[in-house]
Amino acid sequence: MSDYLWFEGIPLPTAENQKEKIEESRDKLVIRDEDTVILTYPKSGTNWLIEIVCLIQTKGDPTWIQSVPIWDRSPWIESPDGYQKLINKEGPRIIISHLPFHLFPKSFFSSKAKVIYLIRNPRDVLVSGYFFWSKMKVVKNPESLRTYFEWFLKGNVAYGSWFEHTRAWLSMRERDNFLLLSYEDMKKDAKSTIKKICDFLGKKLEPDELDMVLKYSSFQAMKENNMSNYSLVPEDMASKDLVLLRKGMAGDWKNHFTVAQAEAFDKVFQEKMAGFPPGLFPWE
Ligand code: A3P
Repeated sequence: MSDYLWFEGIPLPTAENQKEKIEESRDKLVIRDEDTVILTYPKSGTNWLIEIVCLIQTKGDPTWIQSVPIWDRSPWIESPDGYQKLINKEGPRIIISHLPFHLFPKSFFSSKAKVIYLIRNPRDVLVSGYFFWSKMKVVKNPESLRTYFEWFLKGNVAYGSWFEHTRAWLSMRERDNFLLLSYEDMKKDAKSTIKKICDFLGKKLEPDELDMVLKYSSFQAMKENNMSNYSLVPEDMASKDLVLLRKGMAGDWKNHFTVAQAEAFDKVFQEKMAGFPPGLFPWE
């Protein structure tokens, strides 16, 4: 177990050179107009969305997603290795990040790059994060869900406060190059969400291609795909029993929160997310 690396008020995983790379990427990484950027708070369904976007690119052909690890298809800005891959890659890129608004590459804000911001009920994000981060060696491990619950509400978890991350990124939601999606809508109707992503990215799929995207991005297909299920995460980063595709459901928090925790969470949510229009958060 290691502690977090704190950078400008944000706890980060302790990867080598992480602070320097984030600083460098904020000041120097050029986001190109033709890039697609996927932004999420951790545990919101990031990898599911990546799989869908990759499959849209190949028109449903699974060869790419079944032969190249997910982090090489769509590198992370904040991973030193991913950052290098992004710099070296020519042409349009699929770029992933959990970075909060104020640490994101500055060039992005004046680019026409398309960004998809995926949100998920933060209660489920919390539960998913508890199980995931407990197995990771690059963050501070919580000894119980109760401890993690307290850290989460304070924002003392990887990539900081869910509330601040979401508030800041949602300030861009009226822009033409910004698509807001929710995990809950993806669960309810994945096909419609895929169509929405295609429209946003200007891609056209035939009905059978759309069916292939749906098929190969399903929970079961991803769980069985070693290129996407995190079974290739090196042992110095995570213990062997790390599971990315754990339950894949909406509302699992109800199996884990006490009544008092549920009430405390509601109160914080209402305070911190006041001012957003009703209906923006489909789980509320
Ligand atoms: P659970 O831990 O609740 O099961 P991220 O990719 O941002 O780390 O998010 C991981 C969460 O997304 C996990 O949630 C995982 O099961 C879920 N997930 C990943 N792929 C999915 C899929 N194809 N369908 C539904 N949920 C998926």
